[in-house]
Amino acid sequence: MLFTSARIIIWLCGFLFALALVVWFVTPTPLPPASQVTPVPQPRWPQVPLPTGADPESVALRGAILNGERIYQRLCSNCHGRQGKGDNNEYMESLGHKPADHTDLGAMQRLSDAEFFLALRDGVKDQRGWFTMPPWASVLTPTEMWEVIAYVRRLPLAESPPNPVP
Ligand code: HEC
Repeated sequence: MLFTSARIIIWLCGFLFALALVVWFVTPTPLPPASQVTPVPQPRWPQVPLPTGADPESVALRGAILNGERIYQRLCSNCHGRQGKGDNNEYMESLGHKPADHTDLGAMQRLSDAEFFLALRDGVKDQRGWFTMPPWASVLTPTEMWEVIAYVRRLPLAESPPNPVP
């Protein structure tokens, strides 16, 4: 008799423990109070002007520029910088010369679309024949390269964010 009730108690304890585990698992973690939620950060990238029209051409161009921004800020900003000035890291310092400041309208206007495209597709080599800028042909499609170009062309016209990252 004693033996059976001991068994029942052990079973009950096991059951309660399992139940507690399940309850623990399904209870969502409480959200922090609104006062502690960090606000959505302000834009820290240059805000390039976008065509605002609803006509198909503007819509397509807007999409292209935004895709260019996505690509540039992921793949190019490590070297050329978020703002496109190309002077914020040791690698660029180590070259002995500077890549173009992509926010300098005059400098960028001296670079034709074709030169820009070839620099992107084939990379840029120094006098020793070493790549200073890697080729992107195996990474980006020609369309994506033109989208990046459309974006970079607008960097000189961009508004600086209030809290820019270099
Ligand atoms: C590994 C670092 C690195 C990355 C990543 C990189 N670049 Fe460059 N880029 C350079 C360097 C260095 C030069 C200058 C080459 C030279 O003149 O020797 C350059 C040159 C250029 C030029 C030629 C004009 C100029 O600025 O001198 C263009 C255009 C350009 N980059 C665009 C891009 C784009 C667009 C991307 C992203 C798809 C990109 N780069 C990614 C390092 C980089």
